[in-house]
Amino acid sequence: MQESKFAQHRYFLKDSIRKTVNFSRTDQNLGLPPPTIEKPYQNDKKVIPMIPPSDLADLYTITLQSAINNRQSRRQFKRESISSAELSFLLWATQGIRQPIDYGHALRTVPSAGARHALETYLAVLNVENLGAGFYRYLPVSHSIIVERLDSLAGQKITRATFHQNWMADAAVVFIWAAIPYRMEWRYGLAAHRVILLDAGHVCQNLYLACEAIGAGTCAVAAYDQEQMDQVLGVDGDDEFAIYAAAVGRPR
Ligand SMILES: Cc1cc2nc3c(=O)[nH]c(=O)nc-3n(C[C@H](O)[C@H](O)[C@H](O)COP(=O)(O)O)c2cc1C
Repeated sequence: MQESKFAQHRYFLKDSIRKTVNFSRTDQNLGLPPPTIEKPYQNDKKVIPMIPPSDLADLYTITLQSAINNRQSRRQFKRESISSAELSFLLWATQGIRQPIDYGHALRTVPSAGARHALETYLAVLNVENLGAGFYRYLPVSHSIIVERLDSLAGQKITRATFHQNWMADAAVVFIWAAIPYRMEWRYGLAAHRVILLDAGHVCQNLYLACEAIGAGTCAVAAYDQEQMDQVLGVDGDDEFAIYAAAVGRPR
């Protein structure tokens, strides 16, 4: 029988690879230190604190059931800003730390295989109160963001990097999640990659529900030009690369 042209790719969806991994030889079991839970940043970067989750309860009144029931992908946005409190809430809901452990481990608001949390959150800020347009990155450990690069063309660069999904230009902010695969490989070796994608789904679902809760809306985006997006984010494309995105705005 001729092997299906899909077989190799379907294999990636399965967990068969786990049985081929010698877990006693993973970097974790060889005693190598865990990679840091957050990508380090140069200390000349401007750090902007986000509002702590304990001060954000006023933002929402709807029930969890309504948030789940109302959830839908929203691609039509008013050209309105979102507030820093709203951005703080969305960052906390998607990657916030709920229990720090040590420099290599922390538990967050989303689950992650082996609690490895191999994602970084980049933001293309287009219309957020008190923030200039440009590229930022979330620092979960201090619940703050750093300015990667102010850029008045951030919206255009993002739509170009998403094969001209032009509706994204009206968003207030675009979340782009990049994977740092070694954080997962350190523990799982070759069985690391499938679960990174599963982790990303949890993150984006929290974004959908958190947006519904605060009267915002989002739409997941997995269709993008890999090389162009990595270049826009300023990541190397090998040890760190974009895997998923979502545009957030005030629904029309
Ligand atoms: C993994 C994934 C990738 C997606 N990529 C895109 C995308 O690139 N562009 C887009 O407009 N919508 C994208 N969507 C949104 C889907 O089109 C949407 O979820 C689907 O049509 C169902 O609609 P609903 O979310 O309103 O229930 C994506 C959704 C998921 C889960």
